[in-house]
Amino acid sequence: MKLAAMTIGLLACAVILSACGSQGISVPKTSPYFRGAVIFRDHCSGCHTLATVGAEGSATSIKNRVKTNGPNFNFRKEEYEQVMYAIHNGGFSGAIMPENVVLGAEAREVAKFLAKYSGEASVGVFSALMYCIVAGNMVTGALGQTASPRLAKLHCDGDLRAFSALLAGLMAFGAVTGIIGLIAVKVAGTPY
Ligand code: HEC
Repeated sequence: MKLAAMTIGLLACAVILSACGSQGISVPKTSPYFRGAVIFRDHCSGCHTLATVGAEGSATSIKNRVKTNGPNFNFRKEEYEQVMYAIHNGGFSGAIMPENVVLGAEAREVAKFLAKYSGEASVGVFSALMYCIVAGNMVTGALGQTASPRLAKLHCDGDLRAFSALLAGLMAFGAVTGIIGLIAVKVAGTPY
């Protein structure tokens, strides 16, 4: 008896969970954007990524990219007019995305939805990245504070050799950190 009740309970949970999973939309049903979210899931998620509707159609790395992978809307921010343009013309280039995937009121609903929900992840990433600048400024500030009296003294003493060596060292430090940053972007960056 107990076992039967447990099985029924588990089955009910599974049904509820799978219903949520296939739905995949985190916009509340009562929201004015809900219809747009459904239209996006049904017509756009094959080629575009957007977490709000559980869409994963964009490329996840440059290597496995295929022609139909459209921009990832977790990161790319779109305005209403841009979405309407893309829908009517088949993306911005008109080369890959089919034109008029949706029409009329449906196009307007999905454009309104995308203008509101696209680019949300970028805000978080941007804020996190801003802290790299704060940290970087602290290091450069500290280095500058210790180096400038020494530079001044060396210059005063007429020791141009030591002055140039210290200056070159500071500039090399800046260049190397910059290059490391560029390499990190190249290696770990994802297509935007
Ligand atoms: C068959 C795949 C496919 C489908 C379906 C598709 N797209 Fe696209 N979309 C693309 C590709 C590929 C691009 C990028 C190339 C281009 O702009 O021509 C793109 C570009 C876009 C752009 C321009 C983004 C930018 O900033 O460059 C928008 C906006 C857009 N799509 C919205 C939508 C919407 C809304 C839907 C659903 C109604 C949709 N797409 C359906 C493949 C698709």
